Amino acid sequence: MTKVAVGCDHGGFILKESVVSTLERLGAEVVDLGCYDESSVDYPVYGEKVARSVASGECTLGVIMCGTGIGISIAANKVRGVRAAVVTNTYMAKLTKNHNNANIIALGGRVISPDEAAAIVEAWYTAEYEGGRHQRRLDMISAIEGDK
Ligand code: RB5
Repeated sequence: MTKVAVGCDHGGFILKESVVSTLERLGAEVVDLGCYDESSVDYPVYGEKVARSVASGECTLGVIMCGTGIGISIAANKVRGVRAAVVTNTYMAKLTKNHNNANIIALGGRVISPDEAAAIVEAWYTAEYEGGRHQRRLDMISAIEGDK
């Protein structure tokens, strides 16, 4: 069973229930790393928690949410091995798995609705990485991180 880490701040909390139920419907095991209500918290904490869970192999994939998806994605992308993509529609969701092999997607609770989040998560989760010419480019990103 694919393990998916989920994390959000107060701005993304509105999407979490929809994201979790969609992932469970698709057969994933969800690891909920918080936050757990709409009290104000700091998005880097939750971006880092999900990113470290994915980078360590504890979880295979992650979904992170804040107000826009932007701040939490910036935080997550500081962790080596993470490719976190801000996604606002199903086209971006599919393409970021096909081409970027995004292991985390970032969603904005003030940008998209819970129904849109569900469709985006499904499009990304069910899409396949295409490899080939895209792998060379991912290797170039790894080189920037100092891995290759
Ligand atoms: C919190 O108010 C907000 O700044 C945060 O959720 C996010 O949108 C940051 O990028």
